[in-house]
Amino acid sequence: MADKYDLDEELEEKPFDLKLFLRMMGYFKTYGKEISTVAFLLILNLVVGLLDPILIKIAIDDGIMKKNALVVTRIGIALLVLYGISFVANYYRIRLINRTTQGLIYDIRKQLFEHIQTLSFRFFDGRPVGKIMSRVTNDVQAISNLMGSGIATMITDVLMLLGILGVMFYLNFKLTFMAISVIPLLLILLTQLKPRSEKAWTETRKTMANINANVNETLQGIKVIQAFSRQKHNIEKFEKINMENYKSNVKAIIIELFMWPSVELIGMLGTCVVVWFGARQVISGEYSIGTIIAFTNYVWRFWAPLSAISRVYSQILSAMASADRIFHILDTSPEIKDAPDAIELDDIEGRIEFRNVTFGYNPDERMVLHNISFTAEPGQIIALVGPTGAGKTSIINLLMRFYDPVEGSILVDGHDIRDIKISSLRRQVGMVLQDSFIFSGTIRENILFGKLDATEEEIIEVSKATKVLDYVERFPQGFDTEVEERGARLSAGQRQLLAFARALIAQPRILILDEATSNVDTETEKHIQEAIKTLFSGRTSIVIAHRLSTIEHADKILVIDEGKIVEEGTHTELLEKKGVYYNLYLKQFRDDDDTDAESIIV
Ligand code: CTP
Ligand code: MG
Repeated sequence: MADKYDLDEELEEKPFDLKLFLRMMGYFKTYGKEISTVAFLLILNLVVGLLDPILIKIAIDDGIMKKNALVVTRIGIALLVLYGISFVANYYRIRLINRTTQGLIYDIRKQLFEHIQTLSFRFFDGRPVGKIMSRVTNDVQAISNLMGSGIATMITDVLMLLGILGVMFYLNFKLTFMAISVIPLLLILLTQLKPRSEKAWTETRKTMANINANVNETLQGIKVIQAFSRQKHNIEKFEKINMENYKSNVKAIIIELFMWPSVELIGMLGTCVVVWFGARQVISGEYSIGTIIAFTNYVWRFWAPLSAISRVYSQILSAMASADRIFHILDTSPEIKDAPDAIELDDIEGRIEFRNVTFGYNPDERMVLHNISFTAEPGQIIALVGPTGAGKTSIINLLMRFYDPVEGSILVDGHDIRDIKISSLRRQVGMVLQDSFIFSGTIRENILFGKLDATEEEIIEVSKATKVLDYVERFPQGFDTEVEERGARLSAGQRQLLAFARALIAQPRILILDEATSNVDTETEKHIQEAIKTLFSGRTSIVIAHRLSTIEHADKILVIDEGKIVEEGTHTELLEKKGVYYNLYLKQFRDDDDTDAESIIV
């Protein structure tokens, strides 16, 4: 689904947008005390910054020139006190701003993380994980930095600039005009160089992102790379993008190297003009030497806020782009949510009914399920078989309410699942998938994921039933063995068994097994089937399996092809029919061993 957002998702900057800005400012609500303190400290700093050249002027004109040591001493002490105040004010201001910025990062990240967890599958379909991650990390950082230090800098610098200008005009009207006469030059330089420098930095960020993506993929796929001996090929690819990053960085730095010294040079030019004219005014007796020294001092101070503002300005534009992306996610409401009058289902029988269900992942495009209807009575085992891509997993996705059907309805114990609280529906259903996701942490933690308050006895019971105990006992740390990211320390089959234990411990009324034992040996599979039969008698199961031998005992087998139920019946009934199922079965038998399958079946 290419919505507007996808197109400009990766924009580096966005024009200033007041609505976005105000919404960002909304996060300050809880920091009223900090902000007023920061404002007070800022003003204090401003006053000190504006006062000291004036004091120096007095020291020169009334002290040094008039040979009055007392004035010099007094001014010296006053300056010392002022600098002391400024030091303390600065220290507390930076500390407070830092705390506020970190607080904002914490708040926004928390809100974003909580919100992302509620979003439906469709949001994640086709959205690269890396991009969603950079919302939570980089974008949050970008807007918090702006809101914390950026805005404070902006406000102080603008006020400082205005203050300095005011004092300058007050001190010497003519000289002030001379000093600001170089501003147009500065504007020309900035408008010419700034876009180029920004483009260059954008390029460096892009090439860096490429490097990240490449390193990430290489690490994920290192086994395939080494198995195919593609290291050399891969290194060449990497060298190319690494070189691009090198070049773009060098280019960006060269522009930068030219830009800021040029700004300083222009500033210097302004100062030179002031000194030259000022000196003449002193000589002609028009102004005191103290005034001119104070004035040059202000001119110097004038340039620093000016370049800081121009830096913060581009920070604002990139924060706008980040804020836009973050708010887009926050404004996406979960597609699948509880109806206002959704009911809580406490103990269900486990009757499942699909009524004329039609479904497509993208409702505007091709449907992947057409008019699916079937019923599973409590305690029954229903098997779904069919070729890859037929729509078996999609049926499960609908039953779990990861998506809603386009047409038709799904009922559990006679209630449309759209009228049931999602949490209460999912609590009743346990599922084990082909590629079970195992979390980093211990084996125990992974089992407890299914039931947080399970007792040690329960853990041992399900571990026995699922044969997890067999391998746990071989680890010196037993259930406390760390399985590493995605369960890397376990074999594929062991991971599946662990996922089984996690699903069983919750004792769900409905059990969904999507190729759940495809990675374990036939003997273990048989054992688990037996265990499920005893543990799960009276509960409803939906089983998807490519290995048909695992579903022979199902109460009903649905053969799915191209999103339709093409055959339906028990194993024996379907074999007698001599249709699709019969052919599938025949073929698997031939592949499995050399005995004459047909003679066995008939
Ligand atoms: N599909 C899709 N978007 C998804 C998931 C699946 O468009 N997010 C499509 C697939 O391209 C496929 C169809 O939906 O054509 C059915 O997919 P699925 O139900 O997952 O097929 P299964 O029958 O489960 O296939 P397999 O045996 O390979 O698991
Ligand atoms: Mg599937």
